[in-house]
Amino acid sequence: MRKIPTNFLANSPATRRKAELPLDLDGPHVTADASSQHRLYQALCHAITGGIAKPGEPLPPQRTLAKQTGFRRNAVTSAYERLIADGFAVATVGSGTFVAARIPARASDTRKTRIAIEAPQQGALALGCTHIDERALQRFRSFAGRRMRAFGAEHLQYGDPRGSRELRAAIADHLLSARGLRCDPDQIMLASGTQHALRIVLGAILKPGDQIWCEDPGYPAARRAIGHYGLRPVSVPVDGSGMIVARGRALAPAAGAAYVTPSHQFPLGVQMSMPRRLELLDWAREASAFVIEDDYDSEFRYDGAPLLSLAGIDHLSRVIYMGTFAKTLFPGLRIGYCALPERLVGPVTTARAALDRFPGTLLEGAVADMLNSGAFAANLRKVRGIYREARDVLASTLSAASEGLLSVPVPSQGLHLVARFDPSTDPQVAANAKTKAGVAGWLLAETYFRVRPLPGFVLGFAGHPLPQLIASAERLAKASLAALPISGKPNKGGTGKIKRPKTAT
Ligand SMILES: Cc1ncc(COP(=O)(O)O)c(C=O)c1O
Repeated sequence: MRKIPTNFLANSPATRRKAELPLDLDGPHVTADASSQHRLYQALCHAITGGIAKPGEPLPPQRTLAKQTGFRRNAVTSAYERLIADGFAVATVGSGTFVAARIPARASDTRKTRIAIEAPQQGALALGCTHIDERALQRFRSFAGRRMRAFGAEHLQYGDPRGSRELRAAIADHLLSARGLRCDPDQIMLASGTQHALRIVLGAILKPGDQIWCEDPGYPAARRAIGHYGLRPVSVPVDGSGMIVARGRALAPAAGAAYVTPSHQFPLGVQMSMPRRLELLDWAREASAFVIEDDYDSEFRYDGAPLLSLAGIDHLSRVIYMGTFAKTLFPGLRIGYCALPERLVGPVTTARAALDRFPGTLLEGAVADMLNSGAFAANLRKVRGIYREARDVLASTLSAASEGLLSVPVPSQGLHLVARFDPSTDPQVAANAKTKAGVAGWLLAETYFRVRPLPGFVLGFAGHPLPQLIASAERLAKASLAALPISGKPNKGGTGKIKRPKTAT
């Protein structure tokens, strides 16, 4: 490091405290190939912000500095002018240039912030993963490449708040064939995933403070979006037929909306029965409320045909339908959509325009190509088989390796399953076992809000190689067995005695 001492201060009465200003012209704060005036400016800034030249102290006379550094006089003049312009120095006629009394912070000097953000789920048994099929990825890349090459006028301006009409039309076709839902592409709005669509829709139909029914247990991310907008979630318990509408009526008859996952309740996996669906729609009509149907994984049905979507039964009158490509293609795409009752198209479009105007259309074109070319359907057929096998392997490994301790109902749909302990087990047992096994996924308790949580796990089986799935299931099962206290041992803070059941309940 070449340090240039500037002995200009030695005889200055104003700076008896300091005899020299070491100027580092080669440190990392100096851009090596920049002009000499810029390098000098950076070195002086560094000395000032580093406290080497203190507020109020004089800077070396320009001629002295030019001589000592070997830079031209006008380079020194320019560097000083910039220091003055940026507020690091002040010039006093006849006395020279001084370090300013108050020094502005430089962007590069601001301390690095360490803000803790919740990391996305990764690792063994994580939810939110998908199998990335190489062929599907190739097709997507080639469609996206073609779209990129044709990038032109239509992408260069502001667009429709609902997103690309081409993709909306392709989605309308998909919804009709896959979910029996007939809607016009104009009723569809694209968003960067379900959560984003949910936030926009909530902003259009409810105001902060309004009540909204939510399933308990339920999907925590939706719950966060609801709470973040200042709505009052009303926890409505779920049984084997889905959300208990009568409980919702008793708790908050005049709520403005209900958020439900009727085709595959998250996380329990139950399918909302037809009587319940009709009951929910009756309430919505009576209360002039809306039902938000999150149909997040109905493309992955393993046994039998899915029930018609709630929106299909309702003909998009009071039901807002939400779908996503996060599971059918890749979560990183960030494309989801909602199908809206006609009367909501105006308000939701206005709310969207007010939030982020409209979505980028480039990748939407490539997703439309996937749907229209049949590549989307081919990928679904392929990964459905892969997921079915992964589901079976995970369920059977958990049951066998836990010697029947864990009850693992095999879900008929979706990309996750629930493994439960006997309900009398302290939920802490599940927490301890999960930590010990070092797996991702969720504790079942994390999806409960007011209802007393059941002990167990919510585990993803999609996008994990089978050997890894087996190994992590075995670890979790063994850790679950080990985490149980000896039968009859006092259970601190728990729900009572813990039995070690021989068979799954
Ligand atoms: C219940 C539920 N809804 C929706 C989604 C998809 O959310 P997004 O489209 O915001 O990625 C998921 C993803 O895991 C989910 O579990």
